[in-house]
Amino acid sequence: MKISAITTGINEWSGSVLIVGVLKGEIENQIKLFNSIVNETYLRKRLSDAKFKGESKQKLIVESIEEKIEKIVFIGLGSPENLLINDFRVATSIGTRESFDHKGKLGIFFPWDVFDHYSNVIAVSEAVRLTSFKDLRFKSDPDQVTLPTELELIGLDERANSAISEVNPICAGVELARELVSAPPNILTPTQLAKESSKIANNFNLKIKILGKKECEERGMGAYLAVAKGSDLEPKFIHLTYSPKKIKNKIVLIGKGLTFDSGGYNLKVGGSQIEKMKYDMGGSAAVLGAARTIGEIKPSHTEVHFLVAACENMINGSALHPGDVLKASNGKTIEVNNTDAEGRLTLADALVYACQLEPTAIVDLATLTGACVIALGDEIAGLWSENDDLSKGLIKAANEVGEGLWRMPMRNSYKSGLKSSIADLLNTGPRPGGSITAALFLKEFVKPNIPWAHIDIAGTCWTEKDRDINPSGATGYGVRTLVNWIKELNTLSK
Ligand code: BES
Ligand code: MN
Ligand code: ZN
Repeated sequence: MKISAITTGINEWSGSVLIVGVLKGEIENQIKLFNSIVNETYLRKRLSDAKFKGESKQKLIVESIEEKIEKIVFIGLGSPENLLINDFRVATSIGTRESFDHKGKLGIFFPWDVFDHYSNVIAVSEAVRLTSFKDLRFKSDPDQVTLPTELELIGLDERANSAISEVNPICAGVELARELVSAPPNILTPTQLAKESSKIANNFNLKIKILGKKECEERGMGAYLAVAKGSDLEPKFIHLTYSPKKIKNKIVLIGKGLTFDSGGYNLKVGGSQIEKMKYDMGGSAAVLGAARTIGEIKPSHTEVHFLVAACENMINGSALHPGDVLKASNGKTIEVNNTDAEGRLTLADALVYACQLEPTAIVDLATLTGACVIALGDEIAGLWSENDDLSKGLIKAANEVGEGLWRMPMRNSYKSGLKSSIADLLNTGPRPGGSITAALFLKEFVKPNIPWAHIDIAGTCWTEKDRDINPSGATGYGVRTLVNWIKELNTLSK
C-alpha cells in the first residue's frame, strides 16, 4: 500500500473516500473546514439529525457535493482528555471498512497534533493496512473486493513520511503471520513451514539452519521428537538468525509450531475445537513474521535468533502413549499424563537449545493453554516471567502497539501439581491454574540465570469476528509487540 503524508488541506484533496476523525465537542469548529466538499447547512443538519457529537466510535457517512470525493466518513474519537492512540486505531478501522469497494485513494484527516513523535501517524497507517487485509489464497473464484491501495494522511508535514517508512515492513510481517496461521494443516506442514522460513532467510539475508529428525535425535531432543512420533510428517527444527554488525544484545524468540494439534491419544473431543487446531502454530507465525520484518528494517545492536520446533500432534501406531516417560535434551525426565499438553514438550527442547546460545533474554510465544483463553479472552495474552525488567519492557512494547498483554503470576508452589511418582516431572498439572503450571513446566528447561518470558497467545492469535484492526480469523498477534520490543532494546543503554 502506498502511504504518504501530505500538507494539502482538505478542500484541495481529491480521492474516493475521506475519513475524518472528530474529537468530542470539536465538530462545530471543524465544519468550515469542509465547506468546499460538503454544503455547510446540509452538513449541520446531517450532524444534528444523527446526534453526532464525536462520541467514541460514532459514525456518520456524508456524500460529497464534489465529484472529486465519493464519500466522507466522520468517526468520533471521544473526549480529548481520555484520548489514547488506540482510539485512533479503532476509529481508523471503522472508517477503513467503509472504504471497501471504493476504488481510488483513501484520505485520512485526524487531529494529528494531539500526540507527538508521529506515533499516531504510524498507528493509523498500520490500522488501515491491517484492517484491509483479506486472505483469498484458497478461493478458486475470489470475490472481487476492492481494498485501498493508496493512503494519504492529510494535513501533516513532510517529516511524517520518515516515520511511515516502517509501516509497510511491519504490516507485511503481521500479514505473513496471519497467512501462516490461516493456512490449513494439509498445506502448512512442518516441512512447508521450514520452506517458508527459508524464503524469509533468502529474501532478507538471515542465516538459516534446519535440523531434521536425525539431528534432533543426536541432540537428545526426546520431548519434542516424542510429540512428532504419531505423525507421518517429518519434524523440522527451524533456526533463523538476524545478526547486525555491532551486537550489544542477543535475543532468542521461540514460537510454538504445532501445524496441527489433534490432542494425540488424549484426543480433542466435543467442544475442544479440534477443527481450529491449525492455529496451534500461532507462536511460530508471530516469530517468523517478526523475523521477516526485522530482516527488512534491520534494527541495530541486537542479534535475534528465531526458533521453531515444528511438528504435528497426531495418532498412529507409534504415537506417544499417555503414560510414556521421555527424556528432554537437558536430561530431565517427563511422564506424559496427557498427550494434549504437547506444546510444552516441544518448547522444552527449544528452550534448552535457546539457553545453549547464551542469550541476553529468551521470549517464547505459544498457543499453550485453553485455560489462558478462559482467563483473559481473545484480546489479551498472558505473560509469565520472573524478570521484572523483561516483563516491563514487553508490556510497554505491547501497549504501544495496542496488543493486549497482562502479567500473570509464576506461582512456584503450584509446581507440586507437576509431581510425578516415576519421572522428574508430569507434563500436565491439575485443571485449576492450568496456564500457571504450564509456565512452571517450561521454567524447568530454562537456565536460571537467563531472563526468560513466556507469552500464552491461545486466545489472541485468532478472532471469530472482525475486531478493530483484525479482520475475522488469524490476527498475527505478537509480531508488532516483538518488533517494537526489539527496536526499543537498542535504545536502552547497556
Ligand atoms: N493447543 C492447545 C491449547 C489451546 C486450546 C489453544 C484452545 C487454543 C485454544 C494445547 O496444546 C492444549 O491442548 N492444551 C491443553 C492442556 C491440558 C491438556 C493441560 C488445554 O489447554 O486443554
Ligand atoms: Mn494440545
Ligand atoms: Zn497445542
